[in-house]
Amino acid sequence: MSSNEKITTTVIQQRKIEGKAITMLTAYDFSTAKFLDDAQIDMLLVGDSLGNVILGYDSTLPVTMEDMIHHGKAVCRGAKKAMVVVDMPFMSYQVSTEQAIANAGRIMKETGAQAVKLEGGSEIAEAVKKIVAAGIPVVGHLGLTPQSVHSLGGFKVQGKEEKGAQKLLNDAKILEESGAFAVVLECVPALLAQKVTQQLNIPTIGIGAGAHCDGQVLVINDLLGLYPGFAPKFVKQYAALHVAIAQAVADYKKEVAEKIFPSAEHSFKISDGILEKLY
Ligand code: KIV
Repeated sequence: MSSNEKITTTVIQQRKIEGKAITMLTAYDFSTAKFLDDAQIDMLLVGDSLGNVILGYDSTLPVTMEDMIHHGKAVCRGAKKAMVVVDMPFMSYQVSTEQAIANAGRIMKETGAQAVKLEGGSEIAEAVKKIVAAGIPVVGHLGLTPQSVHSLGGFKVQGKEEKGAQKLLNDAKILEESGAFAVVLECVPALLAQKVTQQLNIPTIGIGAGAHCDGQVLVINDLLGLYPGFAPKFVKQYAALHVAIAQAVADYKKEVAEKIFPSAEHSFKISDGILEKLY
């Protein structure tokens, strides 16, 4: 495969067969998508986590189709090679299968993404089947599904006990049978994620689900360390950008106050003799 070819569902599924890890990161805008694409990240997820990290809500529930499409378009413009997956927002696929297909179709048509992601197991199986039958690749999402935060009783690890673990394994198999080409496992014990990974033919992509998944995903803002203070246990901050940003902004403020910025270097010259002619 040439290095500029778009990553397809076949490539992603082949990774599992070859035992090569899949890399996925969230992206919400053009510039970040370009950075991640240049870094050869396989899949860019326009996560509905944009409700939290971009729009400032305290959950993903208020995120709309318009929000997802607006940010999905921007990410697709920056992703030449990476596969772009757009989250279907809360209540865009739960009301009816017809609405789910129509909204999945809208996302694909209007953003140019290559796949959609839906949260849930058996309860969304019909919707997944119909969306896949319409020619739209689907990524599933099990474990801690943030759109169900209120019924899950908060942001907690899922599948620690037998009943929940068995349901998660069953749901993963149902998603595979329904035609999903990959499934995200969020906040699941590592050994349960391993069992799911072993029992599925489609790849698992983990976030807080240990090292045995076929791939990993993180929220880009978390990876870059954009926020001081609390970070969930499963987040590894590969940079502390909040420190660099705070320093850069403080330096700018000081230099403007002290009239150091802009210097001649950052200013434009008028042609000789023009000023004298002005009255
Ligand atoms: O919305 C999101 O960012 C996600 C990831 C956490 C997997 O669904």
